[in-house]
Amino acid sequence: MQISKKEEALRRFAGNLELFRCPICQESFRRHEEGFRCLGGHHFDLARSGYLNLYMGSQSSIYDRSLFAARQQVFMRGVYDPLIAEAASLIQSQSAAHPVILDAGCGEGSFLARLQGRFSGPLIGVDISKDGIRLAAASYRSAMWCVGDLASLPLADSCTDVILNVLSPANYGEFQRVLKPGGMVIKVVPGPAYLQEIRERLQGSEDYSNDEVLSLLEERLEIVQQKSLYYRVPVDQGLWKALVEMTPLTQHRRVEGLPPKTLTVDLLVVKGMLDFSR
Ligand SMILES: C[S@@+](CC[C@H](N)C(=O)[O-])C[C@H]1O[C@@H](n2cnc3c(N)ncnc32)[C@H](O)[C@@H]1O
Ligand SMILES: [Zn+2]
Repeated sequence: MQISKKEEALRRFAGNLELFRCPICQESFRRHEEGFRCLGGHHFDLARSGYLNLYMGSQSSIYDRSLFAARQQVFMRGVYDPLIAEAASLIQSQSAAHPVILDAGCGEGSFLARLQGRFSGPLIGVDISKDGIRLAAASYRSAMWCVGDLASLPLADSCTDVILNVLSPANYGEFQRVLKPGGMVIKVVPGPAYLQEIRERLQGSEDYSNDEVLSLLEERLEIVQQKSLYYRVPVDQGLWKALVEMTPLTQHRRVEGLPPKTLTVDLLVVKGMLDFSR
């Protein structure tokens, strides 16, 4: 008999409850009816599509449902395949046999979902946007999807082997708390030419610089390896529409001119460790 998406997700969370903690009182969880209850008595039900909402704040994001849907199409067209292959090979180089992998700021989940099958440990996707997590849970059964704030992760101390942080904000203090000693952070930062064809066609566009992100990263991460991924992908009408819709850059500005023939993907992939003596 096929079990429902919600039941499957309940079982997956229930089998990995030691990885989570209550976002209100930081106590651990026990299974309770259709969800989980912490030792402090706070109760969280699993949504029907199989995600857990562990975020207490209000939803106010520049990222909405249509943006996440467009981003999912861009993943489906293979635009990020080289990046996914690079991240997978970095994780493979890690010694843990069944790594616990957290995608902090996972959006609609496509990146993390593509690691399923390559690694046998638990996959956890956390994003502050309910729209993003809802779409992730509706699309992919592979991971435990949570609405949560990376500035106050609903995860236990020292429980993850790998933290992915792809084109999303970081909180290195929280990363250090939830990462096991010896664990790795894979941080992906846009390079100056990332999506340049979109920027060039934007009304009032400015040059993009990643200097600020890089200096914070260098201050907080012990960089073990870094690699620049620079490639072009062919663009057709359908992909161009999805690309324009997937980025908040275009939210209040019109994109003008003809679509380009190719799109530039320029990313810096950094593998880092956190210094636990600090
Ligand atoms: C550019 S998107 C990248 C999403 C995904 N990593 C990807 O590559 O498709 C940035 C993501 O960071 C999330 N985000 C921003 N602030 C956050 C926070 N404080 N906690 C968790 N997620 C956050 C946004 O909701 C959004 O999904
Ligand atoms: Zn609690």
